[in-house]
Amino acid sequence: MGRPLVAEINLKALRHNYQLAQQQSASDRAIAVIKADGYGHGAVQVAQALTDLAPAFAVASLEEAEQLTAAGITRPILLLEGFFSAEELPLLIRRGYHLVVHSQWQLDVLNHYFAGNPVSGGQPRLQVWLKVDSGMHRLGFDPEQVSDVYQHLIQQSWVEEVILTSHFACADDLHNPFTQQQLNIMQSLKKQLKATLSLANSPATLGWPSACEGWLRPGILLYGASPLASGHPLGDQLQAVMTLKSQLISVRTIEAGEQVGYGGRFVAQQTTIIGVVACGYGDGYPRQAIEGTPILVNGIKCNLAGRVSMDMLTVDLTPVPDAQPGDPVELWGPNLSVNEVAGYCDTISYTLLTGLLPRVKRHYFSF
Ligand SMILES: Cc1ncc(COP(=O)(O)O)c(C=O)c1O
Repeated sequence: MGRPLVAEINLKALRHNYQLAQQQSASDRAIAVIKADGYGHGAVQVAQALTDLAPAFAVASLEEAEQLTAAGITRPILLLEGFFSAEELPLLIRRGYHLVVHSQWQLDVLNHYFAGNPVSGGQPRLQVWLKVDSGMHRLGFDPEQVSDVYQHLIQQSWVEEVILTSHFACADDLHNPFTQQQLNIMQSLKKQLKATLSLANSPATLGWPSACEGWLRPGILLYGASPLASGHPLGDQLQAVMTLKSQLISVRTIEAGEQVGYGGRFVAQQTTIIGVVACGYGDGYPRQAIEGTPILVNGIKCNLAGRVSMDMLTVDLTPVPDAQPGDPVELWGPNLSVNEVAGYCDTISYTLLTGLLPRVKRHYFSF
């Protein structure tokens, strides 16, 4: 009922993708990354659908973790950036969330906190993911500092276990030697400290087997979008989880020389049938989509014609001249990859999926 735009979420495909990731880990340890509301798919629904498969979940903030806890998720939850201020610590500790420690200031806050609140006998202790800057230069300790920080941490009464983690900058490009350089740094720290590693994001999970030890951290692949810059046998096995679907709400014919939409960006070269689709940038469909961005109408590839508006977009119906109002439209999904659409929008699948706005209804199914 109502506006026909809907994001259908295929939880069976999600489980398939998770299992594909898990199979790349010798120890079955793949932490499902479900930050940013499960990359736009609904973090709670995604966690519920994976809870019997995934040993843990990763999110970006205490708020995101709390949302999962409130929904009854009991698997361990890792905070990928740890905490942002000391005020978060009491709740974080009470809940037993696992945390990344990426900076000296966080270590100082933890040391100070536990000096005033010592952990006694039976109290739970923290699982710390010590972040190493192996070359991305975003978060993490310099490799030369890591040994000292690691030794310090494992001696603290409030620490249960320390895992060494790092993030790849260029793993989507299988020919880029930078990933191997990052790997070498992490392998040598592992040898030195005998610690468990967590390195592999989605591109590394699919394309860099030597990074697939310890805890994998797949994100985008769970949702069925390959992050690799080129085709790959594993990437090709992923199944799209989200189908962004709508309908034509109007069909009209314009004559050669007539224009469509804001700014008149599309000008018909000949008599052209134009369909109007209920989907716009107010739903998260990218306004930067260029002329020719593919859109499926009745399963047939058509081209975006004119600028995307807030609630609507317009499509050249030349390939489907019989199309009528009410006919189905796929903006992305199993028949039109979100990666392909992203390529026409000067962006990546991640922004399209996470950018879907709350007014788009999500419908879940698992068959
Ligand atoms: C630290 C960390 N690990 C893992 C991931 C998952 O990355 P991807 O979605 O490319 O698998 C992210 C996502 O940005 C991240 O920040």
